[in-house]
Amino acid sequence: LTDVTTLLLSRIRDVADYPEPGVMFKDITPLLADPAAFTALTDALAGIVGSTGATKIVGLEARGFILGAPAAVRAGVGFIPVRKAGKLPGATLSQAYDLEYGSAEIEVHAEDLSSGDRVLVVDDVLATGGTAEASIQLIRRAGADVAGLAVLMELGFLGGRARLEPALAGAPLESLLTV
Ligand code: PRP
Ligand code: MG
Repeated sequence: LTDVTTLLLSRIRDVADYPEPGVMFKDITPLLADPAAFTALTDALAGIVGSTGATKIVGLEARGFILGAPAAVRAGVGFIPVRKAGKLPGATLSQAYDLEYGSAEIEVHAEDLSSGDRVLVVDDVLATGGTAEASIQLIRRAGADVAGLAVLMELGFLGGRARLEPALAGAPLESLLTV
């Protein structure tokens, strides 16, 4: 492990049986509260903007906003929020996706993405991959290219990486930590 991954790992708190029995919740609030760790994370994400040649960051509500916004500022690219349905006032594109129980819908302002954009999607956790997959579909439907997906943490046992392979179509999935 590098110094950065050790630092990041040390600031993620495991919370057993949250939000329901049998689930180990990965709480990133200790990392956000530690300026050295949050800076290291922001620098790492900004580095992925550089290595992928991304021209914009899309952050996924809510925790992807917290990570993606400072990385966009650090990298000198724009930040585009993908929000849960019903929160954006302008003309939107929306994408529905299935959850374990029921479904969800995310939206982006249509004017924020267009052909010529190379978008890095940023989120905190890759679990089943459903949220990330829907965001990639949204970006492609807007006519933009997907430069990659960057997450702080990949829950390897849930198989999100394999699920995302077709959607990513060769674009990199960069996870700073695999747990
Ligand atoms: C969590 C997490 C990821 C997503 C990963 O978000 O922040 O966005 O689930 O799960 P998946 O890979 O199975 O789609 P959630 O919507 O629970 O809450 P948030 O609004 O706090 O980010
Ligand atoms: Mg989330």
